[in-house]
Amino acid sequence: METAEWYRYFAEREVRGHSPVYEALALGIAADSGLIELIDGLPGPKRQPNLLLAAVRHLGGPYDEFGAFREWTVRHWGEVRETVLARRTQTNEVGRCASLLPVLAALPQPLALVEVGASAGLCLYPDRYRYRYDDGPEIGPAESPVLLTCRTNGRVPVPERLPEVVWRAGLDLDPVDVRDDEAVRWLECLVWPGQEDRVARLRGAVRMARRDPPRLVRGDAMAALPGLVAAAPAGATVVVFHSAVMPYLDAEARDRFVALVRGLRAGGLPVRWISNEGSPRLPELAAKLTSGLPDGRLAFLPALDGEPLAMAGPHGEWLDWLA
Ligand SMILES: C[S@@+](CC[C@H](N)C(=O)[O-])C[C@H]1O[C@@H](n2cnc3c(N)ncnc32)[C@H](O)[C@@H]1O
Repeated sequence: METAEWYRYFAEREVRGHSPVYEALALGIAADSGLIELIDGLPGPKRQPNLLLAAVRHLGGPYDEFGAFREWTVRHWGEVRETVLARRTQTNEVGRCASLLPVLAALPQPLALVEVGASAGLCLYPDRYRYRYDDGPEIGPAESPVLLTCRTNGRVPVPERLPEVVWRAGLDLDPVDVRDDEAVRWLECLVWPGQEDRVARLRGAVRMARRDPPRLVRGDAMAALPGLVAAAPAGATVVVFHSAVMPYLDAEARDRFVALVRGLRAGGLPVRWISNEGSPRLPELAAKLTSGLPDGRLAFLPALDGEPLAMAGPHGEWLDWLA
């Protein structure tokens, strides 16, 4: 995708209706050949809208209005560039646990969770959050600082009980330490302006995880996954899962990753595979949909062992069950 088109897509398909501030900035950038030229000087994956916008905010640049944003960003381009090159889009969105919960709860218990592309590992605690689907009862530990709400359509098998997680570990190219205030500030800058509810639940999840930080391994998805799966305890269903990670793999790496996970399963290991990725990212899943994708908005496709089960909001805000 050309850079200007990428920023327009981000404005119109991702942030519209969620962050008017980012919608205006992204549309402004898309129409500004000077900024596009600067951004095009970055390596391809580093041109990502949310990464650039988070870098400006992290450096203290203005973002309420395009003119001030543009002037500041051009003047500080050296620092912006350095930040973009040094950091990654590591948005850790615990809201996605609302999309994963019905799938996890329906598996044979207990579970050993292995998250690929875990960021700070906050999605490794689906059993520590509270959930409310539509106007239903709250599920989860009453003392949890995080409540995830989700609108549903179709026959979502909302569980009465949370899954039993006996072991959890994640891997990431660059794991984020929840005890590191500066790293957590970067995670906060990755949340779109105006989404105070997302910031609040991120902070709640960080507080919770600091009491019992997750086991996170530094490594590439391909290289580190077999070792982590082998480390999981016997007697639990090993669940390899990932959300919002495929955009960072090119098509060839993505195909190799899918083949690796399928190979683990074919090798006789009791491994289940949950993917929760944007519909364009695993084309074999989108091809299996019998109903169309929603118009004009990005949908994730929660899937078990390569079979799509639902369409979901990218941050777990809605869940439409397919069957
Ligand atoms: C957008 S974040 C999503 C984090 C988390 N899965 C969530 O849904 O909240 C993507 C994460 O994938 C990691 N990542 C990207 N490519 C990777 C790779 N090849 N191997 C391991 N991790 C990777 C990034 O470092 C980042 O932390």
